[in-house]
Amino acid sequence: MAAGKFLVFEGLDGSGKTTQMTRIQKRLTSMGIESVTTCEPTDGPVGSLIRDMLEGRIPSDPRTIAALFAADRTDHLVKPETGVQALVGKGRVVLCDRYYFSSYAYHARDMDLKWIITLNSLNAQILRPDLNLFIDVAPETCLDRIRAGRHRLDMYEKIDILKQVRHNYFTAFDRLRDKEKVVAVDGNASEDAVEESIWQHLQPFVNSWMESEIR
Ligand code: TYD
Repeated sequence: MAAGKFLVFEGLDGSGKTTQMTRIQKRLTSMGIESVTTCEPTDGPVGSLIRDMLEGRIPSDPRTIAALFAADRTDHLVKPETGVQALVGKGRVVLCDRYYFSSYAYHARDMDLKWIITLNSLNAQILRPDLNLFIDVAPETCLDRIRAGRHRLDMYEKIDILKQVRHNYFTAFDRLRDKEKVVAVDGNASEDAVEESIWQHLQPFVNSWMESEIR
């Protein structure tokens, strides 16, 4: 049986990563390639605690949030049967909306990047993505999209913060260039065009899946 794959979608809030992940899953399905989608923060107990903090229902500190994200991630990876590690181990293609680069980008605003990387080192040891796909969209566009789609803005959804987060993503990509496989696609184009660029980067995987038993 072919080895599973772990493909992560990264980007700012409003970058369209969730939309693109769904499109890619559909495209894979149409070719007979099954995949599983998942996201972080998870809908598990740690993930819901995180959402309560991000949305201000529970008081929090950035260090606590960063540590909870790392814990949520470990739970996401190792829980029996449905954990990402188990799924990939069984040969499944897992598409994940955010993973540790989100932590490096969002939490490096308040803390040293090195500390956040260390905090997530267990997660990196358990499972490194086969590919991190960064959908790069101008922070101004992201904010317009967020505003058009929702009334409530959570604590990260302000222009200066989005700019800083984008900058932090690139700092982290550079810092980890020897360890991580990252591709950035221009996400400012139409949904169809963005999907097409992502698909180009997935070609080597798709070709190997087409030849394997994964489908
Ligand atoms: P997400 O679920 O992508 O946003 P939405 O609820 O709009 O679909 O993520 C929620 C927020 O969590 C997002 O602003 C980014 C942030 N985040 C972190 O700060 N650190 C992390 O490690 C992750 C995975 C997300």
